[in-house]
Amino acid sequence: MKGKFITFEGCEGVGKSHQIRLLEEYLVKNDIKYYLTREPGGTNISEQIRNIILDGKNTEMTDECEALLYASARVQLLKQVIKPRLDNGELVFCDRYIDSSFAYQSYARGLGFDFVEKINDYAIKNFMPDYTVFLNLTPDEAFKRKGGVDKNDRLELSGNSFHQKVYDGYVDLSKKYSDRFIVIDASGSKEQTHEKIINALKEKGVI
Ligand code: TYD
Repeated sequence: MKGKFITFEGCEGVGKSHQIRLLEEYLVKNDIKYYLTREPGGTNISEQIRNIILDGKNTEMTDECEALLYASARVQLLKQVIKPRLDNGELVFCDRYIDSSFAYQSYARGLGFDFVEKINDYAIKNFMPDYTVFLNLTPDEAFKRKGGVDKNDRLELSGNSFHQKVYDGYVDLSKKYSDRFIVIDASGSKEQTHEKIINALKEKGVI
């Protein structure tokens, strides 16, 4: 039996980490077994790649290098952790996955869809999530809520128009992959957003 693979996506500061924590509490309380991982990261090698990508000192990194590093971290995590667990019938959640590369590298960095699709196709052979939970909140609202950017995070320092492009990218992706995308309005309270996520996952038969 193949397990289920669910990813979480959204712009910086939308409360994704908090929502994942609330989801974990719900799953534990309801005795639902799951495995949670994150991108970039989730394995020793992928976490080392993560440190290179996110290091605020690496200002000379080219967009292509960045996109390839994300794809490298991804295939390591997929083959070492995600696939074996899915083959074992497990429910696997991942904080970000390929749609982050489309939103950030294709749309916001401007590498284009084909470039990112090709390198990821090469890496992960089109291994897509069953469902992708997209926390829908504009970057303006998100940063307002978060109280500004994290100055040690290279990606967060990329500027407002960058983050607006990321957001527009996600909106496009949610239309392009409407079968897979679960769009959650994240403009309400944390509790309301949590409830929406739980209801949507129940509706899809994930939990
Ligand atoms: P992280 O601190 O985990 O951010 P968040 O809490 O918002 O998920 O850092 C991950 C950063 O990497 C985030 O800015 C999004 C970016 N990213 C990409 O640009 N492309 C990708 O393919 C992935 C997986 C992440």
